[in-house]
Amino acid sequence: MVQTINAITPLDEARAILGQHFDLKFSKAIERATAPVYDRVRDKIPEIEWPFYAPLIFEINRLKKEKDAVILAHNYQTPQIYHGVADIVGDSLQLAVEATKVTQQVIVQCGVHFMAETSKLLNPSKTVLIPDSRAGCSLASSITAEDVIAMRKMYPGVPVVTYVNTSAAVKAVTDVCCTSSNAVDIVNRVEGDTVIMIPDQYLARNTAKLTHKKIITWAGSCEVHETFTADDISELRHAYPTAKIIAHPECPPEVIDAVDFAGSTAAMIDWVKSTKPPRVVMVTECSMSDNVASETTGVDFLRGCNICPHMKRINLENVLWSLHTMSEEITVPEEIIPAARLAVERMIEMSRKRD
Ligand code: 13P
Ligand code: SF4
Repeated sequence: MVQTINAITPLDEARAILGQHFDLKFSKAIERATAPVYDRVRDKIPEIEWPFYAPLIFEINRLKKEKDAVILAHNYQTPQIYHGVADIVGDSLQLAVEATKVTQQVIVQCGVHFMAETSKLLNPSKTVLIPDSRAGCSLASSITAEDVIAMRKMYPGVPVVTYVNTSAAVKAVTDVCCTSSNAVDIVNRVEGDTVIMIPDQYLARNTAKLTHKKIITWAGSCEVHETFTADDISELRHAYPTAKIIAHPECPPEVIDAVDFAGSTAAMIDWVKSTKPPRVVMVTECSMSDNVASETTGVDFLRGCNICPHMKRINLENVLWSLHTMSEEITVPEEIIPAARLAVERMIEMSRKRD
């Protein structure tokens, strides 16, 4: 029987299968080759665990060259992926822009499904792989293309601004996409004084506070950020009176009102690196502060985060298997590619004009 690693293979089994194809021993050569990576993550990964990660990192980096592949990783990926194997890291907008520039034949998306779909839309001649296709998103699964068509009928002529955290089918019935880093700008730039902004009710309400336009929204939310409350922020202030608290705009408006800064994952990283607060709490996915801590000295990162179960479906084991077997490949139905792509390209174009 041919053994394979799929979405439900337990980690120890996956390692046993990988061991049949790769030498996963922690040799002196691998220790030396991965030492620069370990230097960056030593605060987050105990020395005793490094022998498990290092051979996988070594093999992934070797296979990337052999397969002419590039790894695009979101800021919420684990430190071993973010610092160990990623070629490009960023927020959703940065990853979309970078996907348009990839010259390698293969893109491995370390992130969630809609991000891989966006890469495929923007660079359709490339093979785009996601190591676990179950890596979804509660926002993307909250709305269908039929829902958007029904909304359009309800509000004829009102432009539809769609968060990139949606399927390609939803993007295809959209006027323009947005991300958390350009939402206010995009809403201000579309025609008219009313905008349909879907599917994140909280991003929409947080945007509404920063624009004069009327925003009609949808009842979607991010399962990771919707659980933060204003009381959580008060408790954090009480526990860490000298710390700055920053949050992602997918959090409820009462949370955003209570924090010192709100922005996309990239904007939060930039804020920490430029402001250098002595202590900071990043109210978002937990890997964010782990990743930025490794790149920032003089800032004490305190915990106030949740884990995104979808982002955490991606691990070194399935990244290696993905490259080895060239799976799971992302495909987008031909008939929806042009319209979905146009909505993302319009966003990129409008974001460029802003700079
Ligand atoms: P960013 O675009 O800010 O990286 O957000 C993506 C995301 O999924 C946040 O939950
Ligand atoms: Fe989706 Fe929230 Fe996870 Fe981001 S953090 S991928 S919005 S579920």
